[in-house]
Amino acid sequence: MQISVIGCGYLGAVHAACMAELGHDVVGIDVDAAKVASLSRGVAPFHEPGFDELLARNVESGRLRFSTDFADLAHAQVHFIGVGTPQVQGGYAADLTYVNSAVASLLPHLNHHVDGPTLVVGKSTVPVGTAATIAETIAPTGALLVWNPEFLREGFAVQDTISPDRIVYGLPKDPESAGTAQGVLDDVYKQLIAAEIPRLTTDYATAELVKVAANSFLATKISFINAMAELCEATGADVTQLAEAIGHDDRIGKKFLRAGIGFGGGCLPKDIRAFMARAGELGVDQALTFLREVDSINDRRRDHVVNTARDGLGGTFEGKKVAVLGAAFKPDSDDMRNSPALDIAARISGEGATVVITDPAAGPKLRAARPTTHVADDAYTAAAGADVVLLLTEWKQFKELDPTRLKDAVNNPWIIDGRNALDPTTWRDAGWTYTGIGRP
Ligand code: UGA
Repeated sequence: MQISVIGCGYLGAVHAACMAELGHDVVGIDVDAAKVASLSRGVAPFHEPGFDELLARNVESGRLRFSTDFADLAHAQVHFIGVGTPQVQGGYAADLTYVNSAVASLLPHLNHHVDGPTLVVGKSTVPVGTAATIAETIAPTGALLVWNPEFLREGFAVQDTISPDRIVYGLPKDPESAGTAQGVLDDVYKQLIAAEIPRLTTDYATAELVKVAANSFLATKISFINAMAELCEATGADVTQLAEAIGHDDRIGKKFLRAGIGFGGGCLPKDIRAFMARAGELGVDQALTFLREVDSINDRRRDHVVNTARDGLGGTFEGKKVAVLGAAFKPDSDDMRNSPALDIAARISGEGATVVITDPAAGPKLRAARPTTHVADDAYTAAAGADVVLLLTEWKQFKELDPTRLKDAVNNPWIIDGRNALDPTTWRDAGWTYTGIGRP
């Protein structure tokens, strides 16, 4: 099928390449010429395991192209919208500028003749009610809208796109339009449907809500275990054992119960805030006031690490050297949007410490974006002369560090494990003072 994907960030670029991998003829559109140039050469502009090969293979085959020109999508029958919806400056709501401009730029091309009904498919995370407005905007062209939220995780983006846990279609109210739209999208996802991936059909509002509800639930789970970590710290209990024990109950489950410095990234933090803002507009803000607490528990974890490090260094960071292992918001990603690691590093540096950061994937990006930040190539170099080492992103490379070798590099063998990623006994046996989160 002829497909376009508007917006070639994490979501759009991966979606475009995966659609080509499924055998479709795909054009990815983005306003960022540098991004389009890189993708067109088959080079991923971000770090995502497995994506480089997939991209290169499909660009090479001719099934996948990228362009800055909307005229290049006129021939497509299905148009996916995968642009970003960041948090507005100075508020909690989602900024819909990119979604609105994608729809406006697409509109003149929807009248072009294509074989079969034209479909616009929304994948961006939007405030509930947005899809209905877009459906009205495109209605005069005869094109139909489906809201098809994306659930991909960075680091697993390709797997989550080709083999998601479920697919959700938010369909038009009118049964005939709904049937037509569903038929076209079923054709796009033919292999996924044949693989019996659950496909749920809903109205627009439910589909929009499914996405923010899922992310709110995940954020709540993380803040729940981080709140338990606070209790564990006050009582000498061990949150990792607590998480394992409650996780054995199927109804609770073990996933997303890793206590630490909390959630960051381009999705969870801004999605729960936009959800609260939208609930306020709808007059049901009370339904989501608990998310405010989820957000503050999350912020407190960052404060906790800064305070612990400062206290242990004698009440001040002045004149101290701090090594920070990790800059990305999670491992297997070079994404530093709302990264807890970077936030903690910046606060400590702001209090007068010399901070040296290292990150296997985000390091070079960080060096380019902030030339005054000290970025080291590896953990051993970052730790040279350090008064405390902070492990803030649980990269495999950091979990496999040699405590003895690292001890030779530092000034003071003290490690704060902000992700509970290390074995305390191994590190203590090697002569380190080990401080975890919510564990003795
Ligand atoms: C998240 C959701 O997991 C995806 O399902 C969703 O599609 C995506 O947002 C999105 O809205 O596009 P992602 O932002 O890639 O995916 O990251 P997560 O794996 O959810 O991790 C988010 C943050 O929570 C990270 O900073 C991670 O370190 C932290 N986390 C995760 C914890 O602190 N503890 C945990 O147990 C799990």
